[in-house]
Amino acid sequence: MEAKRLITSLFLIIILSLSSVEPTKKIRARNPCKRLVFYFHDILYNGKNAENATSAIVGAPAWGNTTILAGQSHFGNVVVFDDPITLDNNLHSTPVGRAQGFYFYDKKDIFTSWLGFSFVFNSTGHKGSINFAGADPLMNKTRDISVIGGTGDFFMARGIATLMTDAFEGEVYFRLCVDIKLYECW
Ligand SMILES: *[C@@H]1O[C@H](CO)[C@@H](O)[C@H](O)[C@H]1NC(C)=O
Ligand SMILES: *[C@@H]1O[C@H](CO)[C@@H](O)[C@H](O)[C@H]1NC(C)=O
Ligand SMILES: *[C@@H]1O[C@H](CO)[C@@H](O)[C@H](O)[C@H]1NC(C)=O
Ligand SMILES: *[C@@H]1O[C@H](CO)[C@@H](O)[C@H](O)[C@H]1NC(C)=O
Repeated sequence: MEAKRLITSLFLIIILSLSSVEPTKKIRARNPCKRLVFYFHDILYNGKNAENATSAIVGAPAWGNTTILAGQSHFGNVVVFDDPITLDNNLHSTPVGRAQGFYFYDKKDIFTSWLGFSFVFNSTGHKGSINFAGADPLMNKTRDISVIGGTGDFFMARGIATLMTDAFEGEVYFRLCVDIKLYECW
């Protein structure tokens, strides 16, 4: 009798543990191991501001040029940038690093781009780099792009960066707020 009961409860335990395998396969909400918020400032060359431009159009479709972003949602324009990174939203704050990379516009009927860039830090606060890549549907209030790696203080970093357009002035200046959530920290 005792043995029978033991077998039944063992059986139950096995069934229960098997059924609990499924839910754990789902992506569970995890907390970031590190969170950083920065702003970066992009001043696009427009034919007149060579002195303080931090980015330049380096590619344009056949119907455009590299001075002014093309029509049709800038489709086909490629921009290279070396933008200052600050801790607050003031362009004139002391930069803590540089955002270096490129973006290109890749949809004709709505403004959307693809970003590939690094945050490069060489200050007492941070040393190293964080690498980002992903689609940026910039008409959306917030967009998530991937943090695909890092070096130095950010060795092997992986996570998600939420971008928010914090300011946008004509087609010359924009400021992005970057909320970095790392889920892998070493
Ligand atoms: C660029 O520099 C000029 C003068 O040096 C200044 O008037 C202008 O406001 C600057 N542009 C931006 C976006 O800061
Ligand atoms: C570049 O294209 C814009 C229109 O998209 C035009 O207004 C401008 O004159 C062009 N500039 C040059 C240097 O071709
Ligand atoms: C980082 O800063 C140090 C000290 O200012 C300097 O010696 C070094 O060359 C810099 N490295 C890079 C990659 O800019
Ligand atoms: C961007 O916004 C549109 C419309 O609000 C929405 O349908 C779309 O899913 C959003 N895309 C992303 C990547 O958030």
